[in-house]
Amino acid sequence: MKILGISGSPRKDDRTGTYKLVRTVLEATALDYDLVSLQGKRIDGCIACLGCVNDNICKVKDDMTDLRDKIVEADGYVIGAPNYYSTLNAKTHAFLERFFQFRHQEGNTLWGKLGVAVGVGGTIGNFPADDIEKFYDYNFIETVAKVGGQGAASCFSCGYGETCRVGISNLLLGEGVKITPDMIPDVAKQPDVMKAAEEAGKTLAARLTAGHDREKITADVQAKMDVRKAEMMKKLQHSV
Ligand SMILES: Cc1cc2nc3c(=O)[nH]c(=O)nc-3n(C[C@H](O)[C@H](O)[C@H](O)COP(=O)(O)O)c2cc1C
Repeated sequence: MKILGISGSPRKDDRTGTYKLVRTVLEATALDYDLVSLQGKRIDGCIACLGCVNDNICKVKDDMTDLRDKIVEADGYVIGAPNYYSTLNAKTHAFLERFFQFRHQEGNTLWGKLGVAVGVGGTIGNFPADDIEKFYDYNFIETVAKVGGQGAASCFSCGYGETCRVGISNLLLGEGVKITPDMIPDVAKQPDVMKAAEEAGKTLAARLTAGHDREKITADVQAKMDVRKAEMMKKLQHSV
């Protein structure tokens, strides 16, 4: 059993809440894992060149090329992203867009695998975790758990956080706040978040080692997607 962990934060690993939380989930699995940080990596979004349609291999040459084998070989995923503008950040979005290479001709490389979605925001991390779940759905990967935590918004260290009226420090602590290091949110100091991350890791490990039925999981996630597709078709009919 092998798990691939991805931290989609562009920040250095010692400064990002996403990396910490993804690592906590991975460690709690007590299984073999690989943790890759996208920090410093060049990963562009899908350019719809269709170079992958015949063999399900993306032809764009950037740091995604080296990650492809890790994605294929993994039985489960722990993917985490920071909350940028109430959605997942562009780097993680680009990484997940490139899963398009696996889709063609009913390519089932990822179908029926298991995933944990992690999000970290200056306020809440739920939005990126929900977004990652949507990407898992499109690839018929079951989301076994989602974890959201509060990280350190740059407003705490940019130098203007005490006065800037649109800063998260002001939003959270009120105008004119005097910032001290103990005020800066850190996922490691949020016991409920760390517990949720540990539980997520244990759940993922239990499901993976129980011998998950990939065909059944695929069918279940396809059924979930069918409901969403039907809702979309209904909207489409109303709009014409
Ligand atoms: C461009 C940008 C946009 C952001 N937008 C939001 C936001 O809409 N909501 C929020 O809660 N935090 C927002 N943040 C704060 C980050 O989510 C926060 O710093 C978080 O800790 C980032 O995760 P990381 O520590 O793993 O890098 C934003 C940060 C940046 C750089």
